[in-house]
Amino acid sequence: MKNIVLIGMSGVGKTAKGKYIARAMDRDFVDTDATIVKRELLSIDDIFHKYGEDYFRDIEEEIIKDISSLDNRVISTGGGIVLREKNIENLKKNGFIVYFKADVATITENLKNSKTIRPLLNKGEDLYIAVHNLYKAREDLYLNYSDLVVDVEDKSQEQIYNQVLKAYNEFIACSK
Ligand code: S3P
Repeated sequence: MKNIVLIGMSGVGKTAKGKYIARAMDRDFVDTDATIVKRELLSIDDIFHKYGEDYFRDIEEEIIKDISSLDNRVISTGGGIVLREKNIENLKKNGFIVYFKADVATITENLKNSKTIRPLLNKGEDLYIAVHNLYKAREDLYLNYSDLVVDVEDKSQEQIYNQVLKAYNEFIACSK
């Protein structure tokens, strides 16, 4: 069965919600950032600082190519995968793409409570402004590349799962 691929900004909860969906569907869960960290034996922040963003994006592209050949997974992706069209091309070959959308204020709040350092949002500027700018630069990409948009504001994991499952089943039925 096709993968369910979660895209969206840092801090929308792709990992937590993805794990919930994977458990509910009895599927394996894959996180692209965690896969990169395991491969490089460095945190994402350290990879950015030591080798730069282009190096990170190259590894991200390779990992996504590998993951796209898998089946029946729930895949949570880093917020920047939409920056390379090739990533979406690969993921779409065997995947249903779900964009998790939340307000800039909610994302900012979630990131303040997160222990993970996001190098692109950690450059010393006000976090709300940094999130706002990144969001504005990427919103059209998230919208254009997704098969489903889920507004996750004020929704429980169960509600989100039900919405994803319904749309996924319709998508599978239509592509038969
Ligand atoms: C990034 C998002 C991060 C991580 C890296 C770059 C981005 O993933 O891949 O810091 O460009 O938005 P999360 O979306 O899981 O935070």
